Amino acid sequence: MATWTPVAQVGDISPDTGTLRVALEGEAVCLYDLQGEICATQDRCPHGNASLADGYMEDGTIECPLHQGVFDIRSGKPQCPPVTTDLRRYAVRVEAGTIYLSPE
Ligand code: FES
Repeated sequence: MATWTPVAQVGDISPDTGTLRVALEGEAVCLYDLQGEICATQDRCPHGNASLADGYMEDGTIECPLHQGVFDIRSGKPQCPPVTTDLRRYAVRVEAGTIYLSPE
């Protein structure tokens, strides 16, 4: 059975970047606001030591700030070199403005 943990309010996600870094069970997680659809992936880029919450979000993708690797946010799939590894994704539930996460 899924365990849901509250991690943030929807309003905490920066309207400028569309992202927010939070923690779940000691792991950094990046939240994304895709025009009202909240998604969550691991925050650390699998290619290096970069926070995806500091990246550039566009059209459902996140571009890593360090070497510009791009991931599809919903699927976690890498879209272009140098990234080749899927992002870990988290299940998201929103209730009364609170974002809950569960490991997928
Ligand atoms: Fe993200 Fe290299 S650290 S693309």
